[in-house]
Amino acid sequence: MSLVSCQLWAMRSSSLLLLFFLADVSDVLGRSDFRICAFNLHSFGESKSKNSQVMQTLARIITRCDVCLLQEVRDSKGKALPQLLDSLQRYDTKHKYKAVASERLGRSETYQEQYVFVYRTDSVTVTGQYQYPDDKPGDVDAFSREPFVVRFKAPKTAIREFTLIPQHTTPSNTTKELDALYDVLQRVRKMWRTENVMLLGDFNADCGYLAKKNRKYVRLLTENNLFWLITDDVDTTVRSTTSCSYDRIVVHGETFHRAIVPSSAKPFNFQEAYQLTEDQALDVSDHYPVEVQLKVDNSPFGGANKPTNQESLFSFLVLGHFVLQMLPW
Ligand SMILES: *[C@@H]1O[C@H](CO)[C@@H](O)[C@H](O)[C@H]1NC(C)=O
Repeated sequence: MSLVSCQLWAMRSSSLLLLFFLADVSDVLGRSDFRICAFNLHSFGESKSKNSQVMQTLARIITRCDVCLLQEVRDSKGKALPQLLDSLQRYDTKHKYKAVASERLGRSETYQEQYVFVYRTDSVTVTGQYQYPDDKPGDVDAFSREPFVVRFKAPKTAIREFTLIPQHTTPSNTTKELDALYDVLQRVRKMWRTENVMLLGDFNADCGYLAKKNRKYVRLLTENNLFWLITDDVDTTVRSTTSCSYDRIVVHGETFHRAIVPSSAKPFNFQEAYQLTEDQALDVSDHYPVEVQLKVDNSPFGGANKPTNQESLFSFLVLGHFVLQMLPW
C-alpha cells in the first residue's frame, strides 16, 4: 500500500467512525431496551431489609428494570421500602428511582400486603393510579388483594403509554380471582379509554392452584385479544424441587402485543446469573422475577410513523453512502 492510499484509507475509516458516532449506531441497531418486571419478594419487610446481602441482590435485580412491580411487600413499620429505594439508588447511580405503593391490602388485619411499582424517573412518569374498589354488582369482594392499577407514560417506547394491572392471587381462590381480573380489565379500558393494558404478577396460575378442568371458567384465559407471554411450561420458582409457572405477564390488544420485543418474556434466574446457592437465592425470594421488553422508539422524529430498526439501518447506510461520495477524495 502506498503512503497516499494509506492516508486515504485512514481518512475514510475515520469519517466512517465519525458517521457511526453521529448516528448513534447503538440506538439504530436497537440495543437500548425497556424492561417491565414483576417480582414476588416473599414477605419483604423489616427482617429482609436488615440483611445486606439480600438487599444488595434485590438492588441488582430491580435495577435491571425500568418498571418493576413488587408483591408481598409486608412493611408494617414503613421503613423497609425506603431502605430498598436507598439501596437501588446506591447500586445504580445512572438512574433515579421512585415508587408508588398501594395501601396495605388483605381480608384479615393480621396478614396484609402492598403492591409497589418501582420505576426509573428518567424513562417513565406515572400519569394515573386507581385502587380497584372491588364493588362489582353480583361479585363484591372478589379479590383478597384488589389490583392497584397504575398508568405510565414512557416516551422512549414504541407504545408510549401503558397501564399495568397487578395481581397476587390467593392460592386457594386462584380460579375465581383470575376470572375477576377480566372485569378489572374492562373497567380500566373504559375509564381511561385505553387498550394498552398489561396484567402481571404472581397469579399462582399453575400446579395445584389452577386445575386444567377449571381453565374454561377463566375469562382471562378464554377471551380473545389477550396474550399470555409467560407460558405454562415455564418455571418461575426458585426451589429445584418445584416447577410451576406461577408468575405471569398477559398483554391486552394487538397494538400492545406488537410493541413487545418477541420472545423477550421470561423469568430471570437470578440464582444462576449471580451464582448463588439455592439457600442464598431463597433468602431473597422463592420466586424468580418475570420480565418482558418493550420495543424502543428509535426514530429521530418519534411520532406515529416510526420506521422499524431495519428501515432505520437502511436509511443510515444510504445516507452514509452519499456522505462518503461527497467527500473530496
Ligand atoms: C375466597 O373467595 C371467597 C369469595 O370471594 C371469600 O369469601 C373467601 O374468604 C376467599 N378465601 C380466601 C382464603 O381468601
